[in-house]
Amino acid sequence: RRSCSATPPSASHVMRRGFASDSAPERKVAVLGAAGGIGQPLALLMKLNPLVSKLALYDIAGTPGVAADVSHINTRSEVAGFMGEDQLGQALEGSDIVIIPAGVPRKPGMTRDDLFNINAGIVKSLCTAISKYCPRALVNMISNPVNSTVPIAAEVFKKAGTYNEKKLFGVTTLDVVRAKTFYAGKAKVNVAEVNVPVVGGHAGITILPLFSQATPRANLSDEEIKALTKRTQDGGTEVVEAKAGKGSATLSMAYAGAIFADACLKGLNGVPDVVECSFVQSTVTELPFFASKVRLGKNGVEEVLGLGPLSDFEQQGLEALKPELKSSIEKGITFANQS
Ligand code: NAD
Ligand code: LMR
Repeated sequence: RRSCSATPPSASHVMRRGFASDSAPERKVAVLGAAGGIGQPLALLMKLNPLVSKLALYDIAGTPGVAADVSHINTRSEVAGFMGEDQLGQALEGSDIVIIPAGVPRKPGMTRDDLFNINAGIVKSLCTAISKYCPRALVNMISNPVNSTVPIAAEVFKKAGTYNEKKLFGVTTLDVVRAKTFYAGKAKVNVAEVNVPVVGGHAGITILPLFSQATPRANLSDEEIKALTKRTQDGGTEVVEAKAGKGSATLSMAYAGAIFADACLKGLNGVPDVVECSFVQSTVTELPFFASKVRLGKNGVEEVLGLGPLSDFEQQGLEALKPELKSSIEKGITFANQS
């Protein structure tokens, strides 16, 4: 599969569980922020994934309850909860994948960048611990603003001498999930068959869905494509407003995070042609980080795929997003190198 798949880990998980646990290698996944709005359903979904053998649930509070609860589910992985900084090392040790949904979410009227002041510090300290306890793990960054938290993580790892650009991912799968849902609704095609790459970054106009490459093909008007693009770019805000002060997307994000982690696990396990969109170190444009299709493999990123042919509308969107994305990346780099 060459397009951003964001396909459910497997509808037949339960049926295949016996087979997968017998044959799949041992894999430890750690979730940092596991007691939060995303963390809890993500912990549940990772517990359902037969490719996981150990699930470490870390947060500053609340993880014993979440871990006890999830651990009763009769699937392969062994679950352990870790609470407070003293236990972070233990949570991370031996991890193949670390998923980070730690940090504060938006309230109505806020941009993702408004979260920077709190979340940048959280991400920096968690990544410092990752470089110490599991420097070879794949890192799936969910905490916002992703356009800045990924560069922060890269800088922290560089300083620690553990940076491997193949192993750091900004999770943009929710943009793909939304683009697929909205496109299927408008084009009246089976959503399960839809593929739409989403490139750029993960905030407002930096989110650039490439509906000209969407499959199955549909004859949508320029106005319809414009509206679909805007809805995808504003998808997060739509949820923030609907939740009216009670946070941002959690359930759809947990789903998206679980799909991306599953793709990483498949890549690590040598499954060929696993492709998802992700915000990674990139030479696809002049910007040092950019989201595009990425082929995942045994070492993380196997290949960063190009953008493919763009419509004039998408080309304009690409040029328009670059200044904002560049400044968010630079903001992260500057922050990480401050102290
Ligand atoms: P939440 O407040 O419900 O949960 C966050 C959790 O992080 C809490 O349990 C909190 O205790 C924990 N936490 C705080 N500091 C921590 C630390 N130092 N170490 C470990 N855990 C810590 O928020 P949420 O709704 O789960 O959202 C979490 C983050 O994910 C936000 O920044 C949000 O903007 C982001 N998000 C990203 C996407 C995406 O597409 N990438 C989608 C949705 C939300
Ligand atoms: C999203 O896209 O839902 C997340 O980035 C959360 C947000 O603040 O919109």
